[in-house]
Amino acid sequence: MIDRATVDRILDATRIEEVIGDFVSLKRRGANYLGLCPFHQDKNPSLSVSSTKQIFKCFACGKAGTAVSFIMEHEKLSYPEALKYLAKKYGIEVVEKEQTPEEIAARLKGESLLIVNEYAQKYYQQLLWDPARTHLVGLSYFKERKFTDETIRKFGLGFAPAGGKSFAATAKEEGYKEEYLVDSGLVIKRDDGSLSDRFYDRVMFPIHSLSGRVIAFGGRILTSDKSKAKYINSPETEVYVKNRSLYGIYFAKTAIANKDCCLLVEGYTDVISMHQAGIENVVASSGTSLTVGQISLIKRFTDKIIVIYDGDAAGIKASIRGIDMILQQGMKVEVVLLPPEDDPDSFAKAHSREEIEEFIASNKCDFITFKTNLLLEEIDNNPIRKAQLINDIIESVSMIPDQIERNVYVGQVASRFDIKEDAVFQKIRQLRSRRTSQEQARNRVMQSGPAVSLPGDYEPIPAGYEDIAPTDSVEGAPKPLTDAYLAVNEKEIVYYLLKFGEYPLHTDDSLLYGGKDKPADVPTVAEYIRRSLEEDDLQFENPVYKKIYDEYFSRPREETGDCEVAQGKIIRFFSTHPDQDVSATMMDVICDNYPITVKVYRDSLTPEEQMLGKNVPRAVIAYRIKVIDRLCAATVKEVDAAFKSGDGESCKEKMRLLAALNTVKNSLTKELNRL
Ligand code: CTP
Ligand code: MN
Repeated sequence: MIDRATVDRILDATRIEEVIGDFVSLKRRGANYLGLCPFHQDKNPSLSVSSTKQIFKCFACGKAGTAVSFIMEHEKLSYPEALKYLAKKYGIEVVEKEQTPEEIAARLKGESLLIVNEYAQKYYQQLLWDPARTHLVGLSYFKERKFTDETIRKFGLGFAPAGGKSFAATAKEEGYKEEYLVDSGLVIKRDDGSLSDRFYDRVMFPIHSLSGRVIAFGGRILTSDKSKAKYINSPETEVYVKNRSLYGIYFAKTAIANKDCCLLVEGYTDVISMHQAGIENVVASSGTSLTVGQISLIKRFTDKIIVIYDGDAAGIKASIRGIDMILQQGMKVEVVLLPPEDDPDSFAKAHSREEIEEFIASNKCDFITFKTNLLLEEIDNNPIRKAQLINDIIESVSMIPDQIERNVYVGQVASRFDIKEDAVFQKIRQLRSRRTSQEQARNRVMQSGPAVSLPGDYEPIPAGYEDIAPTDSVEGAPKPLTDAYLAVNEKEIVYYLLKFGEYPLHTDDSLLYGGKDKPADVPTVAEYIRRSLEEDDLQFENPVYKKIYDEYFSRPREETGDCEVAQGKIIRFFSTHPDQDVSATMMDVICDNYPITVKVYRDSLTPEEQMLGKNVPRAVIAYRIKVIDRLCAATVKEVDAAFKSGDGESCKEKMRLLAALNTVKNSLTKELNRL
């Protein structure tokens, strides 16, 4: 954690035009600068950088933000990483906040392992290129595999020779501590206390973290000797957690974000050859099936994965299970099968970038269809196998979190196997509610108190607004009203506060950027939100959101008259907040990683700030409807109890309350429909 004073010093030193100027050629236009926007294919300069306001905005694609968010977006860095980037640029020393001795020890350990790995990478790389040695076998191996010098350097490839002085001895001589050499897994300590190298007589593939540090190695033998393992890899360490690392992610992240798609291959050489062919949005799972941790790494940049299989891969069926998990994470998965004789490595070498892209585009197939075709081949009219297959496919479909997307597949599966859609829906409902109740059981152990459920026939979400329902609800089943019931709505309101609180509720772009004051009769987004919630005397339940909300309105403010400048101050206030939950939520919001209920509108092409007049009221109303729904549910229970106990008066009174609640709800629903 970077302390507040340092953050301030960094932000004070930062000049946005200099920061962006490192990536984009900017031309002065009055008080502003203009350049080609790096976030979309910009033909005319649409990126405007204001040196007075210290913000940027692209008039074509709508991207906007501060120097920090520019660096986060452009360099794919986290918020603290972006701050450190700026600190480095402006020569400011970063003082990390006080840490506990354990934290310091863990950080030092991790840092030491990274330093050892970095040293090892240089060591192996230098041996690969060293002409004075006889080790050119490493280099000729790569050359034989048609890797260019540029590629070999880019991926930091190296060579660990068989004879000569060991890495262990060299590193010790250089002053690297034995403890860290052993802990990094590069060096093995024998029982007699002597040291030996894990990697020898192998070409070396360094594995990089998301931010480009070397965290591990894979070493390949140079021969096709079947008696030895083709690859040896570093063991897991503090810095190399296998199920959270992906080979190539550092080199691929920008391309993945720009292309909004990630290609997934199997091996080191597949990634490298694809890059060499000019296709950079590629990562490898390194021979294992994907884990949730790896998927969430990809999810930071895109929600679309294309899995590329070797034409003859025997492993396809084994890996297919893993793909269900990608679906479950809400990712869109497509599959490409290469020609039988190829793997991505050989295919990339034999074709141009255009040919590869064209092949992928015309051969990709959505995962469910792919799986159906694959498994259909082998059921040869065996009815039991066929039933298993159908169940298997339906299970995959049931993993897809989005209901609309799921329904598309229901239609396909039904017609493909000639069964009734209803039967498929029924099965999916079963599978999903089983999973939900398993999850709830797990959550209940974690939280205190049982979840309240609505009576089964109660329909809390107005028709047509299923998208504002909690995302994991099971269609038809009672909607659980847990502690987190309102969280998604509260988060959405916090999103609007933090990103647009100071903006006028009704707005158009000229207003925003001309530096003009907002017209007096239009409330700001924050004022509108506050007024609406106060009307019903509503308070957020989630403690972090409540804290943000309360502090938003209680923090001292000065009038600036310019909403973007004012919002910039708010972003700065919360993103450097001493409470880590608060600053993390802020980062979440500026990185756009939030569950959004009003999805349809956000996906439209109109810039968000022009939609505030619609979207903010919609978010507030959706929230209020859910609060009322919960009250209704509770009241229904009370009516029930009063009825059972024969208390007629109380029963009537509760019914009146219920009717009143319903009236309010109906008018809110109407309002929502109008918007
Ligand atoms: N792998 C491994 N250990 C092995 C074999 C494979 O860790 N004994 C991992 C490696 O990460 C490898 C990936 O699985 O990159 C895919 O295996 P494979 O296709 O056999 O290797 P390639 O990378 O394609 O290597 P090559 O092209 O040299 O055969
Ligand atoms: Mn391979």
